Amino acid sequence: MFVGTDSFDCVVIDGTVVTAVDTGRYDIGIKDGKIAILAPARSLLSAKTSRLIDAEGGLVMPGGIDAHVHLAEPELFGKGRSADDFESGTRSAIAGGTTTIIAFAPQPRAESSLLKALDEAQEKAKDSTYCDYSLHVIVANPTRQALSEFATLRERGVSSVKVYMTYEVLQLRDSQILDVLLQARTDGITTMIHAENGDVLAWMTEQLESRLLLAPKYHVTSRPQILESEATNRAISLGQLIGAPILIVHVSSPAAAETIRKAQTNGLPVYAETCPQYVFLTREDLDQPGFEGAKCVCAPPPRDTQDQEGIWRGLQNGTFTILSSDHCAFYYNNAEIGKKSAITEDAPLGRFRYIPNGCPGVETRMPLILSAGRLTPQKFVEVMSTNPAKLYGLYPQKGALIPGVSDADLVIWYPQMAPFHITNASLHHNVDYTPYEGRHVSQWPRYTIIRGEVVWDRDSGGIVGQKGYGQFVKRTRSAFCEDLPAWDVEKF
Ligand SMILES: *[C@@H]1O[C@H](CO)[C@@H](O)[C@H](O)[C@H]1NC(C)=O
Ligand SMILES: *[C@@H]1O[C@H](CO)[C@@H](O)[C@H](O)[C@H]1NC(C)=O
Repeated sequence: MFVGTDSFDCVVIDGTVVTAVDTGRYDIGIKDGKIAILAPARSLLSAKTSRLIDAEGGLVMPGGIDAHVHLAEPELFGKGRSADDFESGTRSAIAGGTTTIIAFAPQPRAESSLLKALDEAQEKAKDSTYCDYSLHVIVANPTRQALSEFATLRERGVSSVKVYMTYEVLQLRDSQILDVLLQARTDGITTMIHAENGDVLAWMTEQLESRLLLAPKYHVTSRPQILESEATNRAISLGQLIGAPILIVHVSSPAAAETIRKAQTNGLPVYAETCPQYVFLTREDLDQPGFEGAKCVCAPPPRDTQDQEGIWRGLQNGTFTILSSDHCAFYYNNAEIGKKSAITEDAPLGRFRYIPNGCPGVETRMPLILSAGRLTPQKFVEVMSTNPAKLYGLYPQKGALIPGVSDADLVIWYPQMAPFHITNASLHHNVDYTPYEGRHVSQWPRYTIIRGEVVWDRDSGGIVGQKGYGQFVKRTRSAFCEDLPAWDVEKF
């Protein structure tokens, strides 16, 4: 209960406060970087506070958590190199209402340890971010040493690893995935899986290349849905054998979503992620004049309009646990490290197999999805913030508004806003385009607050946070998964 003598560092009055469980008109008092109190609307109007923000009835939510962001990664496949580093990527994040990101620490295949990759990523991120952050470790070489380090990852606050079923330099054999899953089960780690069948992809690519079908649009042709749904089914089967929790990243195919849904219905610890590109882009976006289509090359690829409907349905009905950006920015107009590195003299429209895979999207994720009006505000908070926090061991410090417990990370939207077009120039990333150029949105974050500090104030200063304010957040095990007994091979 609010007492007249309480004082706050910041008070947000009269918001339509939305969490994953309910919506109500409240005031929020913030002290020492934490949510201190939720009180009836306008009851904190006269409270002592250093800063008062009137939300004017606009939506006030826990800040966005983008659990899939690629920043400052070394060149792993061909020539592409991330255009965004921890500074520009997190600057872009806060302007789009995201208060915590989880980026990646990739183990190079030639390394037997994981810890060097983690050290390197932490070194790059340290004192460079505008928002709070954590890291997933990508396991490209599950040596005995690497597996033995999973316990150290947990001690260092990392409770997730990622494996790939495709990309030559990252692809693991099924037996290697089993090694990872078994160790992950033992140490309370969630395994993220990029589920595309790399061998089928390589074969399809050869078929297309031998027919000189090289343009960007053939990137989609090279990756039919079966390649994703087969790998998803295989990933789930491997997870089932070990009984370990898995998250299928960036699902684009409704057929894969259906397989995931069945596994969930059968009680398996299978979680799924989708991304804005699978509800806003289609294969048409890769079929553009010249090389333009390369801007929307990402993997798995955007599919058809009716597939988008299947993905929305999966978001609405709970098949998808989280929605992340998979922000993976490559310059378009750059022949050294960008999309245009796939253009050669004999292939003026580029060779799709060499186009760096990925699109920027950390800033547009929240406004695009909210503006689409397809999810209730509570569902929106669930997949954008609360579930990523629970899944990856950040809850309830993040993803909730629990007084005395949760960090005061908020995104505050406008009570009303005239629709406007997204332009690249209005964004804060470091790349030279957005796949959403010209798209209408009806909402944009008005304020972003991290641990009680306003870091984004759209009408008065824009980015007002400081580089280096962001902190590394130590994560615990997934809230979705309790301790598991030792795996028993004899039960089979
Ligand atoms: C939920 O969505 C998934 C993914 O689109 C779909 O396969 C499934 O049929 C849906 N289930 C229900 C009950 O609507
Ligand atoms: C795209 O936007 C970014 C961020 O505002 C800017 O740095 C870049 O110059 C823009 N590029 C183009 C081609 O508009």
